[in-house]
Amino acid sequence: MTTPEPPKAPWKDLLNDHLCQNSSSEFTLATVAYDATKKRHVPRARVCGFRGFFPNPQLHPSAVDALKTQGDGLNPDVYESDMLSFTTDVRMEKVGQIQPGSSESDAGSEVEMVFWLKDAGSQWRIKGDAFVIGDQDGGSEEDEAREEIQRGLRVCSEDGRGRWTWERQVTTYFANHTPILRGSFKSPSPGRAKSQDPQDPSLKPGQKVEDLHDSAARKNFRVVVVRPEEVERLDLSDYKNPARWTWTLVEDGKQPGRWEEVELWP
Ligand SMILES: Cc1cc2nc3c(=O)[nH]c(=O)nc-3n(C[C@H](O)[C@H](O)[C@H](O)COP(=O)(O)O)c2cc1C
Repeated sequence: MTTPEPPKAPWKDLLNDHLCQNSSSEFTLATVAYDATKKRHVPRARVCGFRGFFPNPQLHPSAVDALKTQGDGLNPDVYESDMLSFTTDVRMEKVGQIQPGSSESDAGSEVEMVFWLKDAGSQWRIKGDAFVIGDQDGGSEEDEAREEIQRGLRVCSEDGRGRWTWERQVTTYFANHTPILRGSFKSPSPGRAKSQDPQDPSLKPGQKVEDLHDSAARKNFRVVVVRPEEVERLDLSDYKNPARWTWTLVEDGKQPGRWEEVELWP
């Protein structure tokens, strides 16, 4: 029996419009970590750049060009979702915090993303689970993350479904970075003391990477996908008349979940 597809989220088009209207699309990502004693949970937050609703990042023409000339090609347009994506370096702390069991400081996949989209006058808070993909060696963690993401996908066309691959999707996200940003994935370990020389001679700052399968850079490159469970919009576009809504994904037994909208006092 196949799992039912999730319903389209009622907030998605509005958030997307606000992101398109806004001059920037960075957000604050909050994760939960353990402190050094492993006894206390502590919050951790940092700014990241939104990379579109998975699996459809807005592709730069140079990314399409690189995918075509290097023989990867593009995945057929078969899926859409309400899941938000960004990219990161596996060596950064947030990855260990999100991936259960992968590091000393892991605490769980629950995250919160906060956007202040000033041009639209709205704050958006997205609470959900984050999943990390892109480990080229595969393994159970990669498989489990893909399965969780799959649960949030909707099929928009059967045409070419058999040709769609996870590997090409991660490569597409990698291609959508400039060569210098691709090179940042083979810089010395982020967050390590500069006084400690990297052991690996391939790790140097400021490298440009044209090859979409550069092994040192791809070893560290990851795509993070957030599957929302609760979304809140605070509308401050008219300060005399603020407004606030939440949408909560309510699981309905075996049925696909449904989004429940509630207007709140701001
Ligand atoms: C404007 C801006 C955009 C950023 N975009 C990202 C991003 O997309 N992904 C990322 O991992 N870090 C990004 N960073 C860096 C993070 O804020 C942070 O310094 C880094 O990820 C290390 O955080 P961590 O050790 O808590 O994982 C960005 C920083 C700024 C200021």
